[in-house]
Amino acid sequence: MYGFQRCIAPLCRSTFDVTEVLTSCPDCGSLLDIDYEWDKLPIPKSMREFESRWANRRDPLDFSGVWRFRNLLPFAADKDIVTIGEGQTILQQSQAVGKYVGMNAGGLYLQYEGLNPSGSFKDNGMTAASTHARMVGAKVAACASTGNTSASLAIYASTTQVFRVVVFVGSGKIAYGKLSQALDYDAKTLQILGDFDDALERVREVAGERGIYLCNSVNPFRLEGQKTIMYRVLESLNWEVPDWIVVPGGNLGNSSAFGKAFTELKALGLIDRIPRLAVINAAGANTLYQLYEERGVRWDGGMSDDGTTDAFFKTMDAEKRKASTLASAIEINRPVNLKKCLRALQQCDGVVRQVTDQEILDAKAQVGAGGFGCEPASAASVAGARKLRAEGVIAPSDRVVCILTGHQLKDPDATVAYHSGDQALFSEKLGKRGVERAEYANSPVVVENNLQKIIDVLNQQG
Ligand code: F0G
Repeated sequence: MYGFQRCIAPLCRSTFDVTEVLTSCPDCGSLLDIDYEWDKLPIPKSMREFESRWANRRDPLDFSGVWRFRNLLPFAADKDIVTIGEGQTILQQSQAVGKYVGMNAGGLYLQYEGLNPSGSFKDNGMTAASTHARMVGAKVAACASTGNTSASLAIYASTTQVFRVVVFVGSGKIAYGKLSQALDYDAKTLQILGDFDDALERVREVAGERGIYLCNSVNPFRLEGQKTIMYRVLESLNWEVPDWIVVPGGNLGNSSAFGKAFTELKALGLIDRIPRLAVINAAGANTLYQLYEERGVRWDGGMSDDGTTDAFFKTMDAEKRKASTLASAIEINRPVNLKKCLRALQQCDGVVRQVTDQEILDAKAQVGAGGFGCEPASAASVAGARKLRAEGVIAPSDRVVCILTGHQLKDPDATVAYHSGDQALFSEKLGKRGVERAEYANSPVVVENNLQKIIDVLNQQG
């Protein structure tokens, strides 16, 4: 095995075996990467070599949209890999959404990670974390979640029976589609009387005390799996590199993984350039935006300005400011992968933007009307792309890929409240979050249970 864990801090860089269970560097407390002795590994000469695996779909490892790229995340022996057929996702060119964003025809692509088994991109990472959990013989795994990580961990436990699961969620903080998954997949579910940040703090303590395997994105193995979302985007584009990857930012695991994926591919000579990265915060949960765009905090070769970041969090605590957005998946105050994301933004010449709940829900309606649909947090990517296009940062002729992180059915409440035309429902669910209009609502028409009346309505609507 030629993989190892390595501290990301340039003044530390301690290394650890892949068989150790760590979520931070024992020497300095920084985040860890998985790194490889690439020169000792069989690296393909071109990404095209992975295409031969398409013909071998009866092998679960070649069927998986994560593990068919296993040469690029080679930390596990094939026999240890835990897969449930994740990563059968689609890159769709959407003319309708492209028009909304302001792109030239053919320039906008939507990467539907909601098509994963548990309905979100998290399965890309959870297959990798589950694999590592099996490698180290974990009996119980845990995570804190805004709903998708918990659904994903729960489905890996229920389908594979490799370990038992306990999930921590903020009470009243997660969409019902997601809560129903954890319950139905039989995960022990703790509703912490607090928010996601509280749940994450507690689960980290509990995991430490009880020797439980932690599956949040501080687990560096998870992010190895999430790199493959970018490999599939390239695969769908016939291995051409797009100009922009636009992704919603919550705990910042995905953006971190994408930066790592492209940096490695470039270093291995498998791509000739790196796309630009746009990370989109909800305006009500905009820590990254505040630090990166407003205060100029940068990775700076790993020497980033911790003073500014610490002062920001101190003020946040003093003012008792709490993240608040309808995009509950990304309602996060203290993104744990902040440093890695800053690194990715440097690697990918990145930008950060914030979008309001109004912009998110309007973009979501456009994605639904022009594609397979998505949950609110995912639509932040489309709203963000539109903003960057309006600013001229994205050119109309660019090729842009928006990552749609979660399935539309995860959060039907927000969708129905937007479309229903029911003012009371709208005010209760959306109005109090500052959403004023449902410009793209497709409201149901109430009609009497009578053939002629139905025909009359259809005639009126044309
Ligand atoms: N989109 C969706 C649908 C998510 O569920 C999440 C994160 C994100 C975007 C943000 O991704 O954390 O990598 O920046 N959900 C986590 C969870 C926090 O617990 O399910 P990120």
